[in-house]
Amino acid sequence: MNEADLIHFKNWFSAFCGGYHYDDINDQRNIELKEKHTKNVCANMVEIADAHCTGQNDRLLAEAAALFHDTGRFPQYAKYKTFRDAISVNHGLLGAETLLKEQVLANLPTNEQALIIQVVKYHNAYKIPARQSAETVRFLKMVRDADKLDIWDVFIELFALPPEERASAATLGFPDTDGYSDGLVKCIYDKRMGNLNDVRTLNDYKILLLTWIFDINYTKSFGLIIERDYIGRISAYLPHNAEIDEIKVRLTAYISENAIGKA
Ligand SMILES: [Fe+2]
Repeated sequence: MNEADLIHFKNWFSAFCGGYHYDDINDQRNIELKEKHTKNVCANMVEIADAHCTGQNDRLLAEAAALFHDTGRFPQYAKYKTFRDAISVNHGLLGAETLLKEQVLANLPTNEQALIIQVVKYHNAYKIPARQSAETVRFLKMVRDADKLDIWDVFIELFALPPEERASAATLGFPDTDGYSDGLVKCIYDKRMGNLNDVRTLNDYKILLLTWIFDINYTKSFGLIIERDYIGRISAYLPHNAEIDEIKVRLTAYISENAIGKA
């Protein structure tokens, strides 16, 4: 893959996004959120790839995978008017299918096409599926990190807005009540990622976002988490009590350990 391929892909993606325009202000806001998300995931990816990739080809492939990772969101929203995969379609799978159908990657060597397709297909899997090649896993881990970093920013921005100004499809419809579930707090004590199925309230969702830290892979990503203070900025929207203080301490310790020691 070369620089000209990346430019071609960026042009294709802009035209592709432009094909999903809505007159309804709410629909348009939802879809613009995804276009902006893609740009930010690409920017995060450039930082991660600069730190962890050797060679220009690797870096270009990493950015292309980031560019295409949410391709499926656009046809998903057009058909179902939601971003909730559980009640519509797996957007990773739909993205891979769309790229194949449109033959977007046709100019790349077949191994590079396959790599990007696999990364798009599995970027949103709860865990990276078994039997993937080491290359696929390496790029999947980078995209999953870059994606999470921006999703944290998207939600922090959203939590700061009055509810009526939030993009409707992004808040997932959880009630904004005071409580939160012990099960999600326990995930942080156990150092494991929580599951969306266990989320009952918006506070649960905020804690779920914090548990994603246990699925982060690269030293650079941990460095960005510290630099951008995601823990402080997300927990600012949680109740202020000793339990939340304790999870902040544990998350901060975990991040500090990994910001210097991980692959
Ligand atoms: Fe996604």
